[in-house]
Amino acid sequence: MTTPVLDDARAAYEELKGQGMRLDLTRGKPSAQQLDLANAMLGLPGSEDFRAADGTDTRNYQGLAGLAELRELVAPFLQVPAAQLIAFGNSSLELMHDTLVHALLSPLPGTEKRWADEERVVFLAPVPGYDRHFGVCERLGIELVPVPMTPDGPDMDVVDELVLDPAVKGIWCVPKYSNPDGAVYSDETVRRLAATPAAAPEFRIMWDNAYAVHHLTEDEVEIADVLALCAEAGHPDRAFVFGSTSKITLAGAGVAFLGSSTANVNWWLALTGKRTIGPDKTNHLRHVRFLRDADGLRAHMRKHREIIAPKFAAVDEILTREFADTPGVEWSAPKGGYFVTLTVPDGTATEIVRLAKEAGLALTPAGATHPYGEDPQDRTIRLAPTFPPLPEVRKAMEGVAVCVRLALAQRSPVQREANAERASAQQQ
Ligand SMILES: Cc1ncc(COP(=O)(O)O)c(C=O)c1O
Repeated sequence: MTTPVLDDARAAYEELKGQGMRLDLTRGKPSAQQLDLANAMLGLPGSEDFRAADGTDTRNYQGLAGLAELRELVAPFLQVPAAQLIAFGNSSLELMHDTLVHALLSPLPGTEKRWADEERVVFLAPVPGYDRHFGVCERLGIELVPVPMTPDGPDMDVVDELVLDPAVKGIWCVPKYSNPDGAVYSDETVRRLAATPAAAPEFRIMWDNAYAVHHLTEDEVEIADVLALCAEAGHPDRAFVFGSTSKITLAGAGVAFLGSSTANVNWWLALTGKRTIGPDKTNHLRHVRFLRDADGLRAHMRKHREIIAPKFAAVDEILTREFADTPGVEWSAPKGGYFVTLTVPDGTATEIVRLAKEAGLALTPAGATHPYGEDPQDRTIRLAPTFPPLPEVRKAMEGVAVCVRLALAQRSPVQREANAERASAQQQ
């Protein structure tokens, strides 16, 4: 059975397919224009300038914890004392991965037992969340248990309940401008995470502050200091803080950071010292020369904002125009970060992504925002508007709208009727 709404949606979709689009809204990558902002860095520090402020020859070995002046520059942004912050390679994901591998192979401070000798190791995964966090756990045999996200962070009542199981060893957190829903953890959430009554003494918060300085508005949101709150709550070793300059300078040639208690940092360095003699300190110096200081970093991030904020505005504008009155279709309006979460009526996300693919528009697979790729309600779609140029973002979002309309129109007759009624009401 067809209806005018379904016929119209099909016709619009056929037209979309006819355009032969080749667009991609999948990965949260900086655009070439953003990377251009850091081109001057490629000529730094220069062949005569390889000494750090303390005289360190950055060309040589040594300095496992990274260059002191870069750690000092970044420390306030990650809310970690510089002495407890490590500057390392080009990827914070790598540091997260290594931290979990280390914990599997060597007992963390606070426990005698390495995780490899535990029967079960479980991590809590706030959903929707970051697929690569889940990927690390899936690869290492760490079981993932979803926890629903709220606008203030993970649902802490659920967390407080789940951590009573000693197999639960940690939780993933993207506390500011979360991937993918843009949520910012409230101070209360951070306080509760610091104090949550975990049965496992070595319970760890993987505090991935990937978007610490990635504001999309004038309101440069701040979050509570997790290390300080953990210490206050009597759990000084509970949090590992991560961050990187991947989306500040160059995504493939940035610097990643790990910060934690002195005990955790020493544990991590002792183990990491077995796998490398030290990180690339000339890249650290290059970053210091380029960013200069805290104000330099902030000014640089404002240039990023000028490039990407209009793309997020375009996503919001098109979704508002198309779906402001459509029940079940909602989206986030993040104040920072790299993603928009589009929530669609239950059971339609996979179909929308399929339709988009057939029309030449790549969207992140439905389910990617959930452990094991399974979104039980099949309703979450992650949109990443930073990489394509603005006109392509607009075009892609017009395409997304067509696919959402068709998927909704194809649903049950009851829903089709509701859609038809709404459409005719709008025409009158
Ligand atoms: C939440 C989050 N953490 C980490 C990363 C990757 O960071 P890095 O490039 O430092 O490995 C990303 C990239 O999209 C991210 O969204």
